[in-house]
Amino acid sequence: MDDTRIHRSLWTVTTPPRDFPALNADLSVDVAIIGGGVAGLTTALLLKRAGKRVAVLEMHRILSGQTGQTTAHLTELLDTPYSSLRQDFGEKGARLAAMSSRVALEQIATLVETLQLDCGFQRVPGFRYAETARELESLERELPAARDAGLIASVVRTAPLPFPVKGAMRVEDQALFHPRQYLLGLADRIPGDGSHLFEGTRVTDIHDGRPCRVVTDRGTVNATAVVEATHSPLNRVSLQTRLYPYRTYAVAGPLEGPLEPGLYYDSQDPYHYSRTQVVDGRAYLVVGGEDHKVGAEEDTDRRYAALADYTLRRFPVRQLTHRWSGQVIEPVDGLPFIGRNGSSRHVYVATGFSGTGMTFGTLAGMLLTDLILGNESPFAALYSHSRKKPLAGVKDFIQENADVAFRFVADRLARPEGRHLSDVAPGEAKVLEVEGQKVAVYREPDGTAHAVSPVCTHLGCHVHWNGAERSWDCPCHGARYSPTGKVLNGPAMKDLPSRKLPE
Ligand code: FES
Repeated sequence: MDDTRIHRSLWTVTTPPRDFPALNADLSVDVAIIGGGVAGLTTALLLKRAGKRVAVLEMHRILSGQTGQTTAHLTELLDTPYSSLRQDFGEKGARLAAMSSRVALEQIATLVETLQLDCGFQRVPGFRYAETARELESLERELPAARDAGLIASVVRTAPLPFPVKGAMRVEDQALFHPRQYLLGLADRIPGDGSHLFEGTRVTDIHDGRPCRVVTDRGTVNATAVVEATHSPLNRVSLQTRLYPYRTYAVAGPLEGPLEPGLYYDSQDPYHYSRTQVVDGRAYLVVGGEDHKVGAEEDTDRRYAALADYTLRRFPVRQLTHRWSGQVIEPVDGLPFIGRNGSSRHVYVATGFSGTGMTFGTLAGMLLTDLILGNESPFAALYSHSRKKPLAGVKDFIQENADVAFRFVADRLARPEGRHLSDVAPGEAKVLEVEGQKVAVYREPDGTAHAVSPVCTHLGCHVHWNGAERSWDCPCHGARYSPTGKVLNGPAMKDLPSRKLPE
């Protein structure tokens, strides 16, 4: 890989930025939507087309959060196997999960066509491939469940890959696109006729009521309904115990040999996911994987190196031109939560999209639009926050929450990595103990030091340094902060307070 560390996704680099204004006065609309990613923008556009006045409130720039870091697979092949969904949600639930993914994919296709969006949308087959006899047996076991759920799937002995495989489950009629070109097309159509899209506007509080009040650092928005489309819901404690944040990594480079356009998934654990995309007339390969729990990897650069090695050894790619990482929110029982928050009357959430954020994010826009308009949706019960599936994911629930409790205590008791600024070399970050207080310190390569509290402002776990992305990451629910303590990702809403270091 290039020595130049490029941590911007292929999508971000290949589309010009757009500027939208910040909120500059109090405002009243029908629906306030927090978050300018796939779920927020889709919800906003669909509601506007249904006659509602909407306001999108984005803390940074639109598409700068997890949507900008996606690898953008449009697929019915979910992270959770259909055999598991059938076991946990019954045959009907598994069928609805597949059908809702199909409906979301077709919604994207329809918007591309009707809005004439130039985003490289292409229908392609998807392949989950096996490299060992054991992996192939597992795919053969999964096939009937996938077919019963409604996928057009078959097990084939070959796949159009430049390395040998034992076989693959082939699924017809999946799709790929340039996510940012598509979503900028949606964003451009939101402002006007009483609707707004604001950037640089950070929400600091949400009050459910009639009307709801969304307080920001630039004014208050009154609305009949509020949508939290923030990837990880803001300060929603009961839901947080059912969501687990993982980091995932991606690399991209120009294809220097033939590879059939498609979506490709291996069967390793953690698995790798690859796909093609033509951008500005050049064919690229995008490969993702090497996932780990947030804050659980000391050497995040190692993950990039492993992914680069995987890509260069297997595919006709000689040079990786882009690399980036993102966050995946895994729900406890394998399906997202989309709908009204259990205790709120007018506040809606959409989260837990796993590795299929483009499909589930679009589904969230469709489902939340139906719920807000008072329309029936066949998918409402399946994705409800209050769905009753007590056994689904119970083992993961106990394990993951035990991990959170462990982190909460262990990081507090951990020995400090130093006691003085001189213990931190330029380019390094450490948690020091200074005058009896823990301080998270990062030093720029020129020696400038940034000192902040290591206590996450969400629920108080201690943050860990992510060297590859130069951020402080919270292992409990995935909040991320810049070296100076600014919130990069929720659920935290407040920055890490800065600390003074003695001379
Ligand atoms: Fe919940 Fe940090 S994100 S404690």
